[in-house]
Amino acid sequence: MNALFTRTSVRAYQNDALKPEEIRRILQAGFCAPSARNARPWYFIVIQEKEKLAQLSRFSPYASFLKEAAMGILVCGDRSRNPSLDYCEQDCAAATQNMMVEANDLGIGSCWLGGYPNEERVLFLKKALQVEEPLIPLWMIAFGHPKEQPSVKDKWEEDRIRFV
Ligand SMILES: Cc1cc2nc3c(=O)[nH]c(=O)nc-3n(C[C@H](O)[C@H](O)[C@H](O)COP(=O)(O)O)c2cc1C
Repeated sequence: MNALFTRTSVRAYQNDALKPEEIRRILQAGFCAPSARNARPWYFIVIQEKEKLAQLSRFSPYASFLKEAAMGILVCGDRSRNPSLDYCEQDCAAATQNMMVEANDLGIGSCWLGGYPNEERVLFLKKALQVEEPLIPLWMIAFGHPKEQPSVKDKWEEDRIRFV
């Protein structure tokens, strides 16, 4: 699957918006993820408004480029679907990866922006987007057409594998 092998974090974007069908396809990929007991404890808040993206780019010191993104997705866990935040986190991580790989397949770059378990970041996101229980903001993903062709890293590490 080429989209998986060529995905790499993209932090500089062109100025254009994403098409509604591209956004839907990315979200569909998120919904395809596996989840513990098929609870699907995710909730996606899609942000395209430039002013909002600029505000959100301050949620973490490592998210400044979100203000140049065409779209941000706040990935939330839903504790009403699985009270275990650990499982919410694992399931939502799977959905996040799916969305990033699908975006790459569409020629759209993306970057994961870490939030949870950093309490300050979670609180910032809660306030900025009025996220309430049972939802908990976990992290964001920035999306946009890459400004430059990203180069792919070779991450294969033979010594990180043991066959039994
Ligand atoms: C949980 C998680 C949090 C991350 N948070 C950030 C972040 O806040 N800002 C950022 O620029 N990149 C962030 N990244 C992207 C990583 O830096 C990137 O995936 C890593 O350097 C490997 O590079 P690659 O994605 O190009 O393969 C995060 C990735 C993960 C999985």
